[in-house]
Amino acid sequence: MDNHNKIEIRKGLKEEYLPLLAAAEAVCFSDPWPTEAFQSEMNDPFIYLLAFEGEELVGYVGGMSLYETCDLNNIAVLPQHRRRGIAAQLLEAYMEEARVRGAEQMLLEVRESNAPAIGLYERYGFKPYGKRKNYYRNPAEDAVLMVVTLC
Ligand SMILES: CC(C)(COP(=O)(O)OP(=O)(O)OC[C@H]1O[C@@H](n2cnc3c(N)ncnc32)[C@H](O)[C@@H]1OP(=O)(O)O)[C@@H](O)C(=O)NCCC(=O)NCCS
Repeated sequence: MDNHNKIEIRKGLKEEYLPLLAAAEAVCFSDPWPTEAFQSEMNDPFIYLLAFEGEELVGYVGGMSLYETCDLNNIAVLPQHRRRGIAAQLLEAYMEEARVRGAEQMLLEVRESNAPAIGLYERYGFKPYGKRKNYYRNPAEDAVLMVVTLC
């Protein structure tokens, strides 16, 4: 039986979310963004969608949409909430928001060893179109560049 509560997706970054976001980021990434990085992305053209279960932040997606291109900069789900379809809900909502803003394609980069994320992106039609050597640090790793057409 599923005893989880309903996931609520909230749009936009508020001051009160910044510490929650930075804490989640520190748990989810080996080279996390600091609070200030999120603070500088609180307004257009940035898009943030936050997944809450009750008042608990369980996942988020963020990036920016300008003209025909939307960049997905980060997406994460807290470890204890993974494999429940939360990233899928976030990505679907993010792609829809990008379409509404007029984007025709979405771009992202991902560590080449990140099988869960690559699996997620492939499920939504992203295809690799290049690589960036040593793009990541801690540990150093190449990025795979991926793109999907939004229609
Ligand atoms: C990648 C991540 C966001 C997926 O979150 P999630 O909520 O567990 O994903 P979902 O349950 O919505 O899964 C959606 C799809 O993603 C893929 N996927 C998710 N986890 C996977 C795993 N461990 N292995 C392979 N594919 C996986 C599958 O295609 C899955 O569809 P399915 O359940 O029908 O097989 C999560 O693992 C995470 O936060 N990782 C750390 C942060 C990170 O690396 N972010 C990406 C940065 S580019």
